[in-house]
Amino acid sequence: MLMLTRFHSYNNRKFLFHRYPLMNADPRSPTPPLSHNPHQFDVGEIAAVYKAIALRRDVRHFCPGNVPEAQLTRLLAAAHQGPSVGFMQPWRFIRITDPALRMAIYELVEAERRHTAKALGEREDEFLRLKVEGVRESAELLVVALMDGRERHVFGRRTLPEMDLASAACAIQNLWLAARAEGLGMGWVSLFDPDALAALLAMPSGARPIAVLCLGPTERFYEKPMLELEGWAERQPLHTLVAENHWPG
Ligand SMILES: Cc1cc2nc3c(=O)[nH]c(=O)nc-3n(C[C@H](O)[C@H](O)[C@H](O)COP(=O)(O)O)c2cc1C
Repeated sequence: MLMLTRFHSYNNRKFLFHRYPLMNADPRSPTPPLSHNPHQFDVGEIAAVYKAIALRRDVRHFCPGNVPEAQLTRLLAAAHQGPSVGFMQPWRFIRITDPALRMAIYELVEAERRHTAKALGEREDEFLRLKVEGVRESAELLVVALMDGRERHVFGRRTLPEMDLASAACAIQNLWLAARAEGLGMGWVSLFDPDALAALLAMPSGARPIAVLCLGPTERFYEKPMLELEGWAERQPLHTLVAENHWPG
């Protein structure tokens, strides 16, 4: 159970101050289990799970190499084991192997990168200096889309239709973590016009691409999010994001 103690002021707002392990935990060295739980993994396995979570990075720099077929299948199987609302499994994966198609996807991403830069106003130049994709360099390129016909699935989506997207994001996170554990970099690119990408890949009406995934060998995993290293944003302290019983006011 999440245990919270007293309030303190942060950025002129009241937030909860925590002194319990959840708030202080170093994700790279999680607190070892204190009591025996017959369902838990052994200590090394638990550490490996937290390690994959902590060391996963959004990778934009790829080096030459390939992803063996069996490994790619394993990673996609990990994605396919993700949770989904009403078990609808809304994800569809399209592997891009045609170099011309890859270049066409790159052009879509580049066009959207320019639009995004304009929309950012005073941060335009700073944004343009960032590397935000590795579409041309990664060994594999996967497009993830939401399937068509999703309106038939109302279990868990009647009031929250976007749970299909949440489900597909869970699948992508599985793939991301499994890739990290296997030493492969992955980057999620969402800079594209979904209608244009859907048309390019001959998707049926109602299907919607949500991710271009760049996957493959990399020379390095950034020690922190690249956007943090580049000074674009910082990770917010966990205790400022967790509250008890009501929205912190
Ligand atoms: C839904 C989603 C879309 C993203 N789209 C992009 C993108 O288009 N370009 C990019 O450089 N990074 C993209 N990212 C990666 C984030 O920038 C990255 O996750 C964040 O900076 C934290 O870094 P980390 O993943 O290495 O921890 C996306 C991440 C998510 C979850």
